Parts: sequence; structure tokens; C-alpha cells
Amino acid sequence: MKSVIVAMTAAVALMGVSSVATAGAFSTAPCKACHAVGKDVVGPDWARVAKAYGSADELAKVFKGGFKVEDRKIASSEPKFKAQAALMTGQYNTLIKGHEDEAAKALFDAVKAGKI
Ligand code: HEC
Repeated sequence: MKSVIVAMTAAVALMGVSSVATAGAFSTAPCKACHAVGKDVVGPDWARVAKAYGSADELAKVFKGGFKVEDRKIASSEPKFKAQAALMTGQYNTLIKGHEDEAAKALFDAVKAGKI
């Protein structure tokens, strides 16, 4: 029992204090400023995003294609979010570009976990 507690303490220490969902090296922490799972915030509910793309591979493909507004499933069909697309383009350029597969996987993992 004691060794289990020691091991868990070590694991918690390794993870740091926050319970941020990560996939490989990709942290979704910055995404939390505008997204949630289960409700729209500044950006759309990630559960809806996951549903619209269907799979992490499909989302990664759109990221790799340059994440053009016309290729974005939510922005291209919802004027309210299309009007905010530039906000997401900035995030894409600084955080997602070069980490497309990890970012897409992290989003789907967060949806599975029910939180970012
Ligand atoms: C400053 C606010 C902000 C942050 C931070 C942010 N987003 Fe967004 N996101 C938005 C807005 C606004 C939209 C809706 C406009 C759009 O889809 O382009 C959006 C839409 C999206 C979409 C759906 C695109 C579509 O239209 O189909 C994905 C996927 C996404 N964000 C992923 C992420 C990821 C991953 C992160 C963290 C690396 C992140 N966002 C961080 C504001 C933000």
C-alpha cells in the first residue's frame, strides 16, 4: 500500500499540479481560454467540433491543409463563428502549425475525457 502511495505521489509530481489533457508534447491548456467540452465559449464546443470532423485524422488533415476558413467545418457553416475565424487563425499559426496530429489527437482525447 505504501509503495502504491509513493508511486502515485511521484506520478502526480511528474504531471505537475494541473490536470491538463495532453497528447504527446501538445498541451491543450491555452485552448481552454476559449473552448470547453459541452458548451460553446468564445469558440465552439469541442464535442461539436469532434462530431463535425468525425476523427482526429480528418481534423489533422484540415490542419495540415492550412486550416483555411472554407475548409473549417464549423466556421464554414456557422456565420457567428465565421466572423471570429481570425481569432482561431492566430491560435493555429502560433500553437497548432507543425503539431497538427498531436493537436487533433489532444482535442479528441479531451472530448473523450469530457474536459479540456
Ligand atoms: C482566443 C480564443 C481561442 C483560443 C485560445 C483557441 N481557439 Fe479554437 N476557436 C476559436 C474561435 C473563435 C473559433 C470559431 C472560428 C473558427 O472556427 O475558425 C474556434 C474554432 C476552433 C476549431 C473548429 C474549426 C472549425 O471551424 O471547424 C478547432 C478545431 C479549434 N478551434 C481548435 C483549437 C485548439 C486545438 C486550440 C488550442 C491550441 C484552440 N482552438 C484555441 C477561438 C479560440
